[in-house]
Amino acid sequence: MKLSILLLTIAGMACSSDITKSYKAPSLFLNHGGGPLPVLGEKHNKEIGDFLRNVSNHMDFDRTEAVIVVTAHREEDVVTISSGERHGMVYDYSNFPAVSYEWKHKAPGAPKLARSVHAAFTRAGIPAALDPVRGWDHGTFIPMMLADPAARIPILQVSILKSQNASQHFELGRVLRQFRDQGVAVIGSGMSYHNMAEFRKAVIDSDGVIVNEEFDEYLTEVCTGDDLRRILRWEEERGAKEAHLEGEADHLMPLIVNIGAAGLATGRKVFHSVFIGKFKLSGFVWN
Ligand SMILES: *[C@@H]1O[C@H](CO)[C@@H](O)[C@H](O)[C@H]1NC(C)=O
Ligand SMILES: *[C@@H]1O[C@H](CO)[C@@H](O)[C@H](O)[C@H]1NC(C)=O
Repeated sequence: MKLSILLLTIAGMACSSDITKSYKAPSLFLNHGGGPLPVLGEKHNKEIGDFLRNVSNHMDFDRTEAVIVVTAHREEDVVTISSGERHGMVYDYSNFPAVSYEWKHKAPGAPKLARSVHAAFTRAGIPAALDPVRGWDHGTFIPMMLADPAARIPILQVSILKSQNASQHFELGRVLRQFRDQGVAVIGSGMSYHNMAEFRKAVIDSDGVIVNEEFDEYLTEVCTGDDLRRILRWEEERGAKEAHLEGEADHLMPLIVNIGAAGLATGRKVFHSVFIGKFKLSGFVWN
């Protein structure tokens, strides 16, 4: 009895917000850079930081109800959704200045939205879990500290899947897409190129030669084109396995979620940068 009243109340609230909110929030893929370095203003991460400070150029913060941040830094067996009223930080990086272990992004969580997203995954036959406890990792709090320094916008952190299976991540995005109509942005937080060994070498000695022209061009074509399902065969592309090593494609998975959440509008490339003189990075938005 009590449960059914609760459910009716939740359903009622969901309906009324559907009717009054008309803002369609975007699906946005961003590159989150190296650990805390974009916030620290480190030179190789400067352009990334500048873009992150500009995220509000790509969505109307005044009408954004919440952001779903799909983070490359949380991989789970089943898609896992942060569901607390508040979340702490997980400083999932090492050997950085002490200050980078003290930052707190104090935006609220979005427990009601968490239950709606969980229900939507369940309806789609996708196993999902709520986690009211674990904090936001740097894939979530670093971009949001820069994008929303006033910490106004509620955040729902969503994991990727350990499977790193492209079609499963595309389906996650297809489910998340409906929430954009309620003013909830879907932000994928990863890197369009992510090869740690190559990054380390380049920091020591960058010869200034771009290594990933072809794969970056491929991602650009897919994201700004009308055959989004091409992303499902990304592993067959030239340079794919150098950009995202076998079993280490965690930083590409958020982009595949964004592509699944894209809908019918044509995507735009809103960020391009050359990281450490060698690696093209791209960011995309679908409005
Ligand atoms: C950030 O936004 C400002 C003002 O809209 C613009 O001049 C600048 O080029 C943008 N920078 C990036 C990296 O997007
Ligand atoms: C990826 O997931 C789909 C849907 O669950 C499944 O059919 C497919 O076999 C998986 N691919 C791999 C390589 O595991």
